[in-house]
Amino acid sequence: MKKLLVCTNYRANPNNPSCAARDSSLILSALSKQCQQNNLPIEVEESLCLGFCQIGPNARLAPNGPFFHDVSLDKLSTIIIAAKNFTQNEG
Ligand code: FES
Repeated sequence: MKKLLVCTNYRANPNNPSCAARDSSLILSALSKQCQQNNLPIEVEESLCLGFCQIGPNARLAPNGPFFHDVSLDKLSTIIIAAKNFTQNEG
């Protein structure tokens, strides 16, 4: 099954930014709810660091899908639209 990964990696040091320190758990919950509401055949999962810590919170469609950076609660519709398209593609 296709997945929507949301980085929930946490670092306490403010000099080392992390998605969890930027409230990615709220984003994870909201995306999970919205995917269910839209009946998307996709699993929303927590992820370890996706490697873009400076521009987080980060999410990614998998396998081999696009990344989303600087994700915020008011920009989730972009990800939901992308997830709809992603789940409709073969592979
Ligand atoms: S901590 Fe989220 S991408 Fe590194």
